[in-house]
Order: sequence, then structure tokens, then C-alpha cells
Amino acid sequence: MAATRRLIQGAHGISYSLYTGEGLLADTLPAFLEESGNPNVVIITNETIAPLYGTALASRQPNSHLFIVPDGEAYKSQKTVTDLYNQLLSIGADRDIVIVALGGGVIGDLAGFVAATYLRGVRLIQCPTSLLAIADASIGGKVGIDLPLGKNLVGAFKDPMAIFQDRATLKTLPDIEFRCGLAEIIKAGLVGDPDLVQLLVHGDGELGEWIDRAVTVKIAMVEADREEKGQRAFLNLGHTFGHAIEQVSGYQIKHGLAVAIGLRAAAILSVQLGLLSEDEAALITAVLKRHNLPLTTNLDSQALIGAMGTDKKKAGGQLRFVLLEGIGKPTLRADIPLSKLKDTLEELNADPG
Ligand SMILES: NC(=O)c1ccc[n+]([C@@H]2O[C@H](COP(=O)([O-])OP(=O)(O)OC[C@H]3O[C@@H](n4cnc5c(N)ncnc54)[C@H](O)[C@@H]3O)[C@@H](O)[C@H]2O)c1
Ligand SMILES: [Zn+2]
Repeated sequence: MAATRRLIQGAHGISYSLYTGEGLLADTLPAFLEESGNPNVVIITNETIAPLYGTALASRQPNSHLFIVPDGEAYKSQKTVTDLYNQLLSIGADRDIVIVALGGGVIGDLAGFVAATYLRGVRLIQCPTSLLAIADASIGGKVGIDLPLGKNLVGAFKDPMAIFQDRATLKTLPDIEFRCGLAEIIKAGLVGDPDLVQLLVHGDGELGEWIDRAVTVKIAMVEADREEKGQRAFLNLGHTFGHAIEQVSGYQIKHGLAVAIGLRAAAILSVQLGLLSEDEAALITAVLKRHNLPLTTNLDSQALIGAMGTDKKKAGGQLRFVLLEGIGKPTLRADIPLSKLKDTLEELNADPG
């Protein structure tokens, strides 16, 4: 299938291509690398993706190395970054290499961070393979790693040379990972595309259309505000709660599922502050339910509030929350009383019915 190409405006007025289609890892990506002069390529992937797509990609690609890290958020860490730097040095990788990030959002963030920092930066290609990474994480140039004290606390903005979204890879994605991706697609609808929320709540349309619409929301917000000084922060809807949930659960709760719970928490808080109607909040619960996403946690409220304190989206010592004034109408608030936060978590942990 021929690839569809969209241009994304990156830093310094330089744009890069987002290719979408099926089978791109076998044709469009190798052709792109050949046109780029067949540079030395380091494919960074994990032990799950390597046998599915990594080995094949490396075998087709001249001058390539395959670096395999363990699978899991726990490895989006300083330790893995150090291991990768050492491996790059051991093969004599210079500034002309191209790092190909092949995997879900963890690999995209991790390999992207290595590309942003190794020898002060080498070229990067994003090849997302999970729904979450295709619909969200691979776009926008944010890369980074977690610290023991919290998610994504170290990172950089690193535009790739190109993004290759080979949607054929979704055929091997486990069901639970689909649901994780749907959480971010729902989020995109909630912050920027009310019609998408309607499609999702009724299960209308196809996955490909849902992805395209979420990608469109993300590109628009990222192009308007690459370094998240303003409206890009809207994409963090559900994430202040979500990151706290991930962290307090010891990363047992996956990012996408934590975001789903966080979306409901943001809806509850928005209602409590008189920003959102009960009906709109009910619609959000309905769309999450429709896609079998979790609505509640049994995590300790105090621990969650503590974890939110380390979330980096704090402004001047105050917690910042993306809330909703309606479906498709995000707003940023920093003045949330602790009592409202406690009430929200109490309601969140009560049976949603
Ligand atoms: N940089 C950003 O803008 C941004 C945005 C959203 C999320 N993120 C980050 O992304 C991460 C979550 O990403 P994720 O949900 O993709 O998690 P993930 O990378 O852990 O992937 C989920 C699981 O699916 C497996 N997998 C991926 N593709 C597969 C395929 N095609 N077939 C079979 N298995 C496959 C992975 O090995 C993993 O086990 C978090 O660390 C989050 O912070 C970053
Ligand atoms: Zn996210």
C-alpha cells in the first residue's frame, strides 16, 4: 500500500514527514534510508518487538545494528540510557548515525532521549508500533525518561527526521494495549475534536479514522506550541492524575489505563468546580466504558496527592490541572483547593455504577 505523507512543522521552521500506511517498515523506511545515503543505523527496540519486526528490519538494512532493551516502563530509566550510550560507544557510533526507535511509547521516549543527547544529538527516526505511540507519543518531539521520584522528569524536545507509522504492526498488538491507545484517542477528542468523541461513544467509524483524527488534534496543538508554553499543555488532560496513578501503583497500572482513570478524575473535578455539566461528565464516563477502560482506582488518596506534587506540570509550586469547560473546551487551572482534590479522589474511588 502506498504511504500517505503529512508534513509536521518542527523547530526552527524545519518540517518533517509523517508517513502512514501498511508495510512501511519493509519498503518506505528502507527507501528513505537509502535516499539519505545509507547511514549507519542503530535500531533500538525491546525484546517483544525485536522478533516481530526488529530482526527483519535490521536484516534488510545495510550498516545496521539492533539494540534490544527489556520490555516495560521500568526500563525507561537512567540505567537503560547509560547501557545504550555504552553500546553506542562500543560500536564506535559517531554523530552521523541514525537512531531508529522501533516500538511503543516507552521505546520512542527512551531511544528519542538517547538520540537527543548522545554526542549532543544524532538523527532520529520514530517508528511507533503501539496504538498509543501511533496516535500520540510519536508525534511532537517530546522524549524523555522517568526518575524514581516520577514520570518523564528528564527529557528533551527532539524532532525526528521522519515518523513511519506502519499500521500493519497493530495486528500483533495485545488487546489491553489497544485500550491504552484508545484512552489517548479519547483524550484527543475531549481536548480538540468533539465529533471524534461522538464517533467513539457510538463506536462509529473505523480505527484508522479515529487515529487520523487524534493525530490531527495532536499535530495542531504541537505546531502551535512546540515547547509547551501554552496550549500544548491541553494534551495533558487526565495526565496529572494519570501520572500519579502510574507512580503510586509502582507502574503496575499502564500509562493508557491510568490516563483513562485520569480523564474521569478531570471530569469529576471539572464538575465540582462548576465548569462542566453532569451530562457532559456522564458522556465521558460512557465513552470510557464503551472501550472497556477503567474508571476507578483503589489507590490511597493521600499517596496520589503526594505523587501529584512531583508531577512536573507544577507551576510556581502550584499544581496545574487541565480541566474541561465542555467537550472540546480544555482550560488550564492552577488554583485548585486541596479539599476539591480530596473530594474528587473520593468520588473517583467510589463505585461509578
Ligand atoms: N512523548 C510523548 O509525547 C508521549 C505521549 C504519550 C505517552 N508517552 C509515553 O509512552 C509510554 C506508553 O507508551 P505505550 O502505551 O506504547 O507503552 P509501551 O511502549 O510499553 O508498549 C506497550 C506494550 O506493547 C508492546 N508492543 C508495542 N507494539 C507492539 C506490537 N506492534 N505488537 C506487539 N506488542 C507490541 C510493547 O512491547 C509493550 O509491552 C509511556 O512511557 C508514556 O509516558 C509519551
Ligand atoms: Zn499520555
